[in-house]
Amino acid sequence: MTTPGPRLPIWNEIAAHESRLAALHTRDLFAQDPQRYAKFSREAVGLSFDFSRQRLDLEALYKLYALLDFVQMRDQIDAMWAGAHINTTEDRAVLHVALRQPKGARIGGAAIEAEVLAERERMLDFADRVRAGKITGSTGKAFSLVVNIGIGGPDLGPAMGVLALAQFTAGGPRVEFVSNVDGNHLADVLAGAEPATTLFIVASKTFTTLETLTNATTARGWLAGSLGEKAVPSHFAAVSTNTQAMNAFGVHPDYRFNMWDWVGGRYSMWSSVGVSLAVAVGSKHFNEFLAGGHEMDQHFREAPWADSLPALMALIGVWNINFRRLPTLAVLPYDDRLKRLPAYLQQLEMESNGKSVTLDGSRVEWDTAPVIWGEPGSNAQHSFFQLLHQGTLRAALDFLLPVNSSCGNQAQQDLAIANCLAQAEAFMDGQAGEGIPPQKVHIGDRPSTLVMFNRLDPRTLGRLVALYEHKVFTQGVIWGISSFDQWGVELGKKLAASLVPVVQDPASARDVSPAMLGALQHVVRWRGK
Ligand code: F6P
Repeated sequence: MTTPGPRLPIWNEIAAHESRLAALHTRDLFAQDPQRYAKFSREAVGLSFDFSRQRLDLEALYKLYALLDFVQMRDQIDAMWAGAHINTTEDRAVLHVALRQPKGARIGGAAIEAEVLAERERMLDFADRVRAGKITGSTGKAFSLVVNIGIGGPDLGPAMGVLALAQFTAGGPRVEFVSNVDGNHLADVLAGAEPATTLFIVASKTFTTLETLTNATTARGWLAGSLGEKAVPSHFAAVSTNTQAMNAFGVHPDYRFNMWDWVGGRYSMWSSVGVSLAVAVGSKHFNEFLAGGHEMDQHFREAPWADSLPALMALIGVWNINFRRLPTLAVLPYDDRLKRLPAYLQQLEMESNGKSVTLDGSRVEWDTAPVIWGEPGSNAQHSFFQLLHQGTLRAALDFLLPVNSSCGNQAQQDLAIANCLAQAEAFMDGQAGEGIPPQKVHIGDRPSTLVMFNRLDPRTLGRLVALYEHKVFTQGVIWGISSFDQWGVELGKKLAASLVPVVQDPASARDVSPAMLGALQHVVRWRGK
């Protein structure tokens, strides 16, 4: 077990650089060095990564690279690839990189490679046959609506992907996602749907998640109510590690897909959990997505820290969170089709690194994951950018910008580009000077990273998702925390399960808190009114 970065002497050296730079405005750093853009930008794996607007100089950056050596980041990467049990609290390997490997890569070992490739082939064949209308519902009609039922990883990944890759969905059925337990989500998706042409995909690693099983059971009732119980196996597919539960639900063996305990839900869209995405875009595009992820994996393994986009992104995050004390990161894509990316990254980053004990169980004395939030940049400009420009709280920003329009409307994408670049500049430079009234002063010095790419296509999406995954892994290693468990969500799940009978029958409530009692009294007064 390595010592967490904040407990190493180099941490204080980095802090000293932050204090030195705090006296400067990022604008000064540009003024001092005409080569700043060249020194603080990289191009790799089809992405342009510009971090010149971060308040950093080379001296500070070299210390940050050294930090990665002190926490033995290379050994950690090798351990992940080799299938070592780096998820120590659950005693599991962490092998999402194995899911996007091509034949012959042997990531995780020969047996895992063989299993992954075989399951991928089966899943993609299913997806293509659903798309082509060769797998049909019980009445012989092709599926026009596919509803993915899942929550957390089995929802956010494919849902984000289907929206992002809307350009590549022509010819396939409409793919929708249902996650929330309240019933409205499912009701709204099924409004007007025809049971005979609807396929449900129940995606759940455990197949025990309340939200998913409740929605799946309601969907089953909806379908059976119209087509009869016998129709159920033709209209349900499932993805899980829990074969028994898929059996019990009545999922046909040919429509069942496996995942493994060595992949976490939030890292699973590359596996059969991505089947709804594969149905939406077809196997060719899904394979492109995997290839993009694998390209980023190779880059992460091979590039020196100074050129490694995931390492740089992680170090910039640590710099902003731990040294500049900026506890939030706004993710701002200038493409409406990336509108679910902030939500996807919320789970990826906050469920992975929202931890406050180290691997040895001692309490951290430093901040860990930031609060991730965001919106497509255009919307954001007309809502919360005011606070970002002139409010008292400051945030770090990630701009994501495709140069070419994926739908072909380049004239409008050019406007998005102009807005994104203008904002990045304004956040850095600000606006001050003689004669400017105080209300119009923009202090600037809001740090941003600008990630640009050619166009939003499957390969680029794969590169982007893997970039953030490896950033999260790197930060977890620096902070000395366990990035691959999620004990924090277990407590709420347990409490909710014990409260279900009480909500159904508030009179049965025993030993509940005054606040709980107050809420239950409202349930009694208002239910059914
Ligand atoms: O929200 C907690 C969580 O455990 C996530 O990590 C996971 O993605 C989600 O629940 C769903 O779990 P499952 O895939 O088992 O249904």
